[in-house]
Amino acid sequence: MFLGEGWSRRLAGGLLLASAWAGVDASESGKIDYQALLPDGPGKVQVATYCAMCHDLKYVVFGNRNKEQWLGIIDAMISDFKAPIPDDEAEGLSAYLAAHCGPANPIREMPMDLNRVGGRELSRLPGLKAEQIQAILRHREEGGPFSGVEELEALIGKSTFLKIKPYLYVRDPASISKSSP
Ligand code: HEC
Repeated sequence: MFLGEGWSRRLAGGLLLASAWAGVDASESGKIDYQALLPDGPGKVQVATYCAMCHDLKYVVFGNRNKEQWLGIIDAMISDFKAPIPDDEAEGLSAYLAAHCGPANPIREMPMDLNRVGGRELSRLPGLKAEQIQAILRHREEGGPFSGVEELEALIGKSTFLKIKPYLYVRDPASISKSSP
């Protein structure tokens, strides 16, 4: 987003940024639980605790930074916004963030188009097992595009469907004809 421009410059425009920020949160992130997109692993609890204190985790999940850049962000949170993060937590936080919210994070948008999403993206959704991911991909290959996310229910069961439903959508359902070869 704005990084690289320097924090002082960013803070000068702080008011503007803060209002844009609130607007995005209110309109888009309603039912999407960004914390559920954080994979298990050492450091997850700390990220979920410290980094959700002041803002949505959306910007953390899609932060797409390497370890050094995350360390810089954490420093800035502490020095500019008085984030109560103990010094000795920065290492673990940045390691987790780089591993899961860095360049290797396959998720680039939310919600994701069910007819384009790949196995790596699907594997980040909460509660979806490897064989269910295979079933979704196979269904798409053999039966063509999904005409709605509701079709997933029969494929993966109701409880998993309800968990992953907010993260997926079908673009242009009307243009998808199931009878075409
Ligand atoms: C004490 C409150 C507070 C805590 C705790 C906090 N932040 Fe922030 N964070 C902010 C504020 C305020 C902003 C600036 C919002 C703006 O510029 O509109 C921000 C902005 C950000 C941004 C956007 C920066 C950019 O330029 O794109 C990221 C990424 C971020 N925080 C990550 C984190 C992470 C990771 C943690 C946990 C280690 C964390 N924050 C904890 C207050 C906090």
